[in-house]
Amino acid sequence: MRCCLVALAALAGLAGVADAIYLPGAVAEQFQQGAEVPLMVNSLTSTVTQMSLRNYDLPFCRPATITDAAENLGMHLQGELIQNSPYRLNMNVNRTCQLLCDPITLTEAQADDLSLKVEQLYTQHWIVDNLPAAALSIDKVEYSQLGFPIGAIAPDGSTVIYNHARIVLSVHQDPSFEGFRVVGFEVEPVTVAQTWEKDPTSEEGELKLTNCPLETGYLASDAAPMYVAGPMSRKKVDLAFSYDTFFVQSDVRWASRWDIYLSMGSSSMDSVHWFNILTSSIIAVFLTSMVGLIMWRAIHRDISRYNRVATDEEKAEDREESGWKLVHTDVFRPPSTAPLAFAVMTGVGAQVSFMAIVTIIFSALGFLNPANRGSLVIAAIVIFCLLGFVAGYASARNHKLFDGKLWQRTTLLSAFAFPGFVGGVLLVMNSISWAGNSTNAVPFGSLVAVIALWLCISVPLTFLGAYYGFKAEKLPLPTRVGTYPRVIPAQPWFLSPAFTMLVGGILPFGTIFIELFFILTSIWLDRYYYVFGFLLLVALLLAITCAEIAIVFVYFQLCAEDYRWWWRSWLVPGASAIYVALYSAFYCATRLQIAGFAPMMLYIGYTLLASVSFFLVTGCIGYLATFTFVWRIYDAVKVD
Ligand SMILES: *[C@@H]1O[C@H](CO)[C@@H](O)[C@H](O)[C@H]1NC(C)=O
Repeated sequence: MRCCLVALAALAGLAGVADAIYLPGAVAEQFQQGAEVPLMVNSLTSTVTQMSLRNYDLPFCRPATITDAAENLGMHLQGELIQNSPYRLNMNVNRTCQLLCDPITLTEAQADDLSLKVEQLYTQHWIVDNLPAAALSIDKVEYSQLGFPIGAIAPDGSTVIYNHARIVLSVHQDPSFEGFRVVGFEVEPVTVAQTWEKDPTSEEGELKLTNCPLETGYLASDAAPMYVAGPMSRKKVDLAFSYDTFFVQSDVRWASRWDIYLSMGSSSMDSVHWFNILTSSIIAVFLTSMVGLIMWRAIHRDISRYNRVATDEEKAEDREESGWKLVHTDVFRPPSTAPLAFAVMTGVGAQVSFMAIVTIIFSALGFLNPANRGSLVIAAIVIFCLLGFVAGYASARNHKLFDGKLWQRTTLLSAFAFPGFVGGVLLVMNSISWAGNSTNAVPFGSLVAVIALWLCISVPLTFLGAYYGFKAEKLPLPTRVGTYPRVIPAQPWFLSPAFTMLVGGILPFGTIFIELFFILTSIWLDRYYYVFGFLLLVALLLAITCAEIAIVFVYFQLCAEDYRWWWRSWLVPGASAIYVALYSAFYCATRLQIAGFAPMMLYIGYTLLASVSFFLVTGCIGYLATFTFVWRIYDAVKVD
């Protein structure tokens, strides 16, 4: 009971926080001339270590007091930590060469550490008015790549730090409101070895920069870079951080300020997605016509022939094409290996499939956009928990279909096996992040909230679903199961489980692998993935492909008088998960610079979770479709 209160509080808290701060498009904020515009800093991320760090873990200028922004559960789970910063931005006031804080004297160890972090490609993520900074480089703005690096390695091997930020805010003005709205946020990182002196006009002896070419900032100057390590650096480094702020008028409206981030910079990407859809559609159409042909032969021609007296020649032909009819007393014989696991996997597979599709639909409709930080993760968790009912119900129905009596074990496994597995893997990964002092480590409170959601919503719903599933009648089957199993003739090599999985898995993988590339890139290289419309289309094509590939292979198998189709219908499309895992490994080897034990473990952990989920989804779709198919063709012939 108490845990349910925690869950409710957590849910209410999530909703409240999300509403109050980050609901997109709800309220546009206006800033008056000169009003303070807060600049927030998020965790530092690295595509090399995949371990986020707190911004102030590095020797950057700190505000007088560091405060954390209110965050929701999803943000915690994603390792985000948003804090205030000492940058002072006043609306529509241009400033150049502002010293951020007194120069920081780095110890040798600090300089080396900073240099290592530069090598590991640590990236800063700043936020103004909930808009993430896009990196402005000399000729273009990279909106699809988030954030900007903390430094760079010079050709001679020295490390330079980007210690000057040229901040450009685009602001929109309109007679319909007073003040300015922030519609764009770009940062150009610059490295410059500054010089400073006591400001003679200041009474507190504040410092001011002396090498600043006013008006333009440092860009036009040819000041030396700021070295912190390597042959060019001195033993003792004084690091001064500085910034310019520019406010430029823009015609972009507030409502469309995210468009530029989400379009991924170019429409050429769109054609890649369309190409993917096209190839996947061709696969799907090909398979559909094949299944159509099978159905037509199986049901119409075979039946008409069955009803008429056949010649000897026709009989011989018949045997080859209609071997499936001979196994009618065995086709619904429960699987001999692990029927319970099969039933449980069907339940969990249905739960994960529905979660995926509902989440993708919500995203495609624009409910879960990136302005709404963390929403995707929260939505997925909550939807998963609510779908506990489906898991319980489907496992129970299947267990009953197999004449199983182990209803307690089925229910418990449906409720605990998959979440337990995911939780176990995440726990290991969390410990790794925690040991690395990374913000990826989920705070204790969030962990409790997730567990409470699961225990109080998902688990009871699974029990409820199982209760109804067991109460329901056993599914009526078109043919009776005979007492004695039929002898299975020797099977040709191309119908062996290994070969059918190898071949069958390729097509579902083929429908998604281009989209998979973009998803992997967004996860591991911090790009935006925001083509959920495309993803929805691809998911539908994937479902069709899985269903049909399973049907085709099971039909061939039944024709060869091998009736052990239950697991086959699951494993043939499910084998595509192996290809997904292999592709992830290939992607890691060719595209990523992940190095070291801990980051590798994180990569393997996430790949494992993704592949297992993918296996559950594709396998479940294949099985359910094949079951319907088998049911239909045997129902149509009504052999007795
Ligand atoms: C600030 O600088 C930008 C870019 O140089 C310029 O377009 C704008 O007019 C300036 N704003 C003010 C208030 O001076």
